[in-house]
Amino acid sequence: AFNLRNRNFLRMLDFTPREIRYMLDLARDLKRAKYSGTEQQHLKGKNIALIFEKTSTRTRCAFEVACFDQGANVTYLGPSGSQIGIKESMKDTARVLGRMYDAIEYRGFDQDMVENELAKFAGVPVYNGLTDEWHPTQMLADVLTMWENSDKPISRISYSYLGDARNNMGNSLLVIGAKLGMDVRIGAPKHLWPTDELVAECREIAAKTGARITLTEDAREAVKGADFIHTDVWVSMGEPAEVWAERIRLLKPYQVNAALMAAAGNPQVKFMHCLPAYHNSETKVGKEIAAEYPELANGIEVTEDVFESEACIAFEQAENRMHTIKAILVATLGD
Ligand code: CP
Ligand code: NVA
Repeated sequence: AFNLRNRNFLRMLDFTPREIRYMLDLARDLKRAKYSGTEQQHLKGKNIALIFEKTSTRTRCAFEVACFDQGANVTYLGPSGSQIGIKESMKDTARVLGRMYDAIEYRGFDQDMVENELAKFAGVPVYNGLTDEWHPTQMLADVLTMWENSDKPISRISYSYLGDARNNMGNSLLVIGAKLGMDVRIGAPKHLWPTDELVAECREIAAKTGARITLTEDAREAVKGADFIHTDVWVSMGEPAEVWAERIRLLKPYQVNAALMAAAGNPQVKFMHCLPAYHNSETKVGKEIAAEYPELANGIEVTEDVFESEACIAFEQAENRMHTIKAILVATLGD
């Protein structure tokens, strides 16, 4: 038996396949309970701090609604308004918040900081709501969504990730597939593959779990036969706007458009994106890019027609952020 009580949730690499499956099962149970009006509260009276040094829609709202549903209270500390980083170190912040709160969520830049300052000194569970390196809460939502949209057991599911594979999503999707014995394909230019060290570590995990790992520079090869095609923004939060030009040059062949969806050769193939997505030029950044690159006016990493098609399950994926984050909270803090 195992027990996730009081555990940190910092990287998927820290969890066994059984622990990950336990959280997925719990998320499914909690989702059913909410839908059927039979949800029971396991977090009554708990207080949870939510630190966001980067912006968020889904992760913040998922944590807040999960807490409200389960009877916990939250305090949101945004990119401005607290002493964090300006007048006070994370180590001191950890020691303050750890005395008032039962758990802390953190979204920011440096993984080393959340592990070696916040989690080390807080004395309460810390959840990683995204760093430059990892996005572990997103992974439970992504697997739950694939599981719900497939007739196959999780380990038979095959998915591709196209785009910037060296970012938090590329790293995380490689690890979760390796852990759960899935068929994981990364389609990206070598320059944007996960580091050799991480690939080697995932290959070792895969040898034990039966996962199949493919890294290729050929986008069509990456998606051939896949059940799900994932992508993410080409420039992540915290990266300077100057990197857009290089990313567009490198990643254009990996744009998820109708031709690439068709290259899967699977009429049932689904499109996934952790969101937010640049699928048209309606947003501020989308407009700026379209002004300079007219060929990207109908989407950058994914085209508008794919995003608005029946194949797109990105909003189910977004909803599942809440059910899976609730599972993490209940597993680590619940009575
Ligand atoms: N997918 C995700 O983490 O979205 P937010 O940045 O809106 O939280
Ligand atoms: N890679 C993206 C993910 C957003 C949820 C970013 O870090 O901005």
